[in-house]
This record gives sequence, C-alpha cells and structure tokens, in this order.
Amino acid sequence: MSHTIKTLFDALWADYLHQCPSAEDIHQLLGQGATIINDHVAFRTFNLPEVGLDKLAAHFIALGYEAKGEYEFKQKKLFARHFEHPTDPSAPKVFISELLLEQCSDAVQQAAKAMVAQLPAGAAEQPDFLYRGAQWQVSLETYQQLLQESEYAAWLAAFGYRANHFTINVNELPGFASLVAVNEALKAADYPLNQSGGEIKGSAEVLLEQSSTLADKVAVTFSNGSLTIPACFYEFAQRYPMADGQLYSGFVAASADKIFESTDAR
Ligand code: NI
Repeated sequence: MSHTIKTLFDALWADYLHQCPSAEDIHQLLGQGATIINDHVAFRTFNLPEVGLDKLAAHFIALGYEAKGEYEFKQKKLFARHFEHPTDPSAPKVFISELLLEQCSDAVQQAAKAMVAQLPAGAAEQPDFLYRGAQWQVSLETYQQLLQESEYAAWLAAFGYRANHFTINVNELPGFASLVAVNEALKAADYPLNQSGGEIKGSAEVLLEQSSTLADKVAVTFSNGSLTIPACFYEFAQRYPMADGQLYSGFVAASADKIFESTDAR
C-alpha cells in the first residue's frame, strides 16, 4: 500500500501518540476542539547508505515534497534538510536530520552499523518505515554508552524511525495571539518546557520563534532489560513575514540546536 499525504501523517500521528501521550491533552488544551495545523514533523537518522537522510526523504519526495533549506549542527555532528510541499499548504513541512558518523567515535560508529545491519533488506523503502520504530535489538549498555557521547544517537537507538516531534503552527491556532500566550497556557497546565537557550528559541528578527515541551518519558524494552527514558516531545512554532509579506518557511539552526535538547535525559 502506498501512502497519500494524509494517510502518512495520520499513521505518524498515531504512532507519535504512544511516545508522546501528552500530545492529545495538549491538543485539547490549545485547540479546544478546533482542528490543529502542524507546522512540521521531524525525524532523526544515521548517515549510513541504508537509512540516510535521502532514504527518509524519498517517502516525502514521492508525495510531491521538495528539498528546501540545509542546516549544519557542528557540535552535535548533525546535518539536516527541510522539505516542503509546493502546492498543498495543509501538508506539514518535514525536517530530517542525520548523525555524521565519520565524526563520531569508533564505538558510536560500530553501534550504529550493528543496528542498521539488523534491518531487513530494503527496510527503508517500506511504506511503514517512518513509523516502525527501532527494528533492532540494543543492549542497555550500548544505550548508556551512546548517551555519553551523543544523546541523539542514544535516542535513535531506543526509538528508531518515527516522528521525533510534531509542531503546532501557532499562526493558525485560534485563540492564541503569540507563542508567549501558548507557553503561558502550557505552564499553567503544568507542562514543563525545554529551557535550553531560553524558553523561546529565535525571535521576530530571525522570523521564527519556537518552544517545546520536555519529552514524555516512556518505558523502552532493550535486549537485556527495560528503562524509562525521554521519548518524544511537542513543539510550537510562530512564523513572521519576510520583506515580501510571505511567512518565512525555513528553520533557524541556532534554535533547532536547542530544540534537539528536548529529549535530554534528566
Ligand atoms: Ni522542530
């Protein structure tokens, strides 16, 4: 079965709710029953040929998406690209990052290769790949070892291929004039926000403001035990118009860098 934009995002959302159970309540809190428009959905991967950024992107390219901005995160050793649908304004943007393994230690490289080697041949081409999760066995020790060097790699080992976060489009959210108002409503309802780099990352000057919850914690089964760890989080984005009056549609690397820390173990 091949996907339409709607069936793919519906499947991603259904899986995401298992990893970020608070998302449903936040929808209710902010949307009050109204339809919520997503700004973007984000994915993580390793830059190995079987599962690299392009393999994930192919699922969206097949649905008419086009590659747009490129982003580098030197300290986190990540490269990212975002994708937009040229004619369907209701289609969320897609943000895909990949860990640049050649810049990582031998231990991280070996662990990543060992995980990807467990995937069935052609796994990344399967229609459900983007919400199948971790189709590999990883030990608690490997998870802990990855965590010491790269939180990103550890998250990917534990959760695999699925939406890392959905992002509410605050511009299209009725009843909230600003991201500040959204954050106040979230805090009043006791949702902890990611404070790394400040509660709001970005500004009107860079045309994009973002905030996010701290990831919900869920129990993950590893090959030799289970652990309750940060899973997925919810993000909120407010965009500002460019000189031509169109809303800015890109991302701001300095802000995204801090958003990645929404899955830090605490
Ligand atoms: Ni995001």
